[in-house]
Amino acid sequence: MPPTTDTPTTAAPAGYTAYRQTVADSFGHWYGHARDSWTGADTNARVTRFACAQAPAATGAGRRRVLDVGCGRGRQTTEFAERLDADSTGLDLLDVWDAPPPARGRARFRQGDFLDFARTGHDLVVDNGCLHHQRRADWPAWAAHGARLLRPGGVLVVSVFLSPDGETTEMVLDDGRLNWWLTEQDVTGLYAGAGLAPVDRLVIDRNFRYRGHWLKYLALSFRTTDRTPDRPTDG
Ligand SMILES: C[S@@+](CC[C@H](N)C(=O)[O-])C[C@H]1O[C@@H](n2cnc3c(N)ncnc32)[C@H](O)[C@@H]1O
Repeated sequence: MPPTTDTPTTAAPAGYTAYRQTVADSFGHWYGHARDSWTGADTNARVTRFACAQAPAATGAGRRRVLDVGCGRGRQTTEFAERLDADSTGLDLLDVWDAPPPARGRARFRQGDFLDFARTGHDLVVDNGCLHHQRRADWPAWAAHGARLLRPGGVLVVSVFLSPDGETTEMVLDDGRLNWWLTEQDVTGLYAGAGLAPVDRLVIDRNFRYRGHWLKYLALSFRTTDRTPDRPTDG
């Protein structure tokens, strides 16, 4: 089993705490009013299948460790446990998880901010729809923290709103939460900067038209390299 450590938390640019509260309040309202249309959506099922296909083989006798960043209701957290027979942790600012326990593997949930989550040594880190709600100034720290939580040989999967026109576009909701449309170059550049190498990609049609664009998600996978910083090493 790979080692795990409790690393120091990742330093974030100024204003992070205030924006984190904005995000928590916004999603609290959306979940509270059953507006979380993404939960259980077929697009999420496709991200789940993509992430499971990217998961590296276990390194030892123990279960693979999966971190589901911004897990929301926790449906994917439990699916990772079941499909991969994994020890799967769902992390979210809000304690809104209500997924039934997995038939195999183990699922557990933690409330907190991603940049404060310190447990390293994960085989698979999945960020489905979380990065694109963060401030642009926080993206490098966000990517670096995800890379740091992987074991050597570990894989990170991130799914974002794909820019339909090649522009990196910020949209501000009435409550202050940000929705970013990112390009593939944005995401690969960010994770390359964190020392990860691209592996695979999946474009997922949302069948949703907005401001004249048919919107899509982009799921990308990345693997650790010798340049991935600050990780514990095997052995
Ligand atoms: C669009 S939802 C996606 C939820 C889930 N991944 C899914 O696809 O069903 C984004 C989630 O990320 C969580 N989130 C946003 N920023 C976060 C942060 N800094 N740390 C932990 N969770 C965060 C929100 O509370 C919300 O539940």
